[in-house]
Amino acid sequence: MNWLNDNVNVLALMGAAAILILTIFVVGKYMRQMQNDKSSGELTKDNWDGIGEYKNPLPIGWALSFLGTIIWGLWYFLVGYPLNSYSQIGEYNEEVKSYNTHFESKFSNPDKTTLMGMGEGVFLVQCAPCHGVTGDGMNGKALNLSKWGNEDAVVATILNGAKGSDYPLGEMPAGLLDAESAKAVAAFMFKEISEVKNTKHPELIESGRALWATCAACHGDDGKGMAGSSPDLSTYGASKFVVNVLGMGKKGMIGNMPKFNDGRLTNVQKLAVGTYVNSLSK
Ligand code: HEC
Ligand code: HEC
Repeated sequence: MNWLNDNVNVLALMGAAAILILTIFVVGKYMRQMQNDKSSGELTKDNWDGIGEYKNPLPIGWALSFLGTIIWGLWYFLVGYPLNSYSQIGEYNEEVKSYNTHFESKFSNPDKTTLMGMGEGVFLVQCAPCHGVTGDGMNGKALNLSKWGNEDAVVATILNGAKGSDYPLGEMPAGLLDAESAKAVAAFMFKEISEVKNTKHPELIESGRALWATCAACHGDDGKGMAGSSPDLSTYGASKFVVNVLGMGKKGMIGNMPKFNDGRLTNVQKLAVGTYVNSLSK
């Protein structure tokens, strides 16, 4: 039988046999004692329907261990735990803290390749469930990120409006400009307002500049969003805009995109996922 080749099995089996023999011996002893013993000693004066009680002194050993447990209990509660506690949760927190410190110092100054790699990792875990593994929005269930964050997306935003992030100014209405003017404003915005500082249509910049007043009403002359009343467009097309989106959350077709500012992503991770998201539309 090959389970007998296992030392642990054999030991356990021997232990079980020893317990069985001891039990039979102890039970046998007390059974015999119950049959043969005669009572002796002094009874207390109380009597319950003929049943009496012997006057036995408290066994010293029992009394000492009883006192001992009380003292130990007090020590354990006041000194040992929890006032001076060790706990597994505490140890876990310490470990997380030390890993985070290590993470922060290791990635305090990430280069572009590191950001892209980290960003893709964060994206696949945190964003892909709604936006799809490739960021395509899974047939319109969430935003198609490969068509977001570029000049065409600004044109689409001007034509369709924007809502869902609860800015003090509320919603951006649809159809502020026609398609041609929208294209010009987008060119101006990308060259002069956004830190991208580059446009596909340099010939449209000047006509766009003249139209910017429409946008400045809510986004400010410098496009910075008038102290948080509307989105800061000077970061549009860069990772900081995505970081801002993650702080605001957004209502959409499939429900709410959560705010990611509850500590589940570090600042570096937000920057990384922003870099990755912007790369999807390039
Ligand atoms: C619970 C689903 C969900 C998750 C998870 C999610 N999003 Fe979104 N996201 C949405 C929805 C809904 C919208 C609103 C647009 C729409 O209707 O699709 C949106 C919009 C966006 C926008 C456009 C914001 C704007 O102002 O137009 C960006 C950028 C974005 N998400 C990035 C991310 C990133 C990065 C992550 C991961 C860190 C993420 N999302 C996780 C559902 C989600
Ligand atoms: C009535 C005020 C108002 C005007 C006018 C306005 N916007 Fe907006 N805009 C907003 C608000 C509010 C949001 C944020 C909407 C949200 O996500 O909840 C926004 C969002 C945006 C976004 C971000 C969209 C995204 O995907 O996150 C862009 C880009 C933008 N506006 C560009 C423009 C341009 C260009 C103009 C001028 C043609 C303009 N806006 C005019 C109020 C305005």
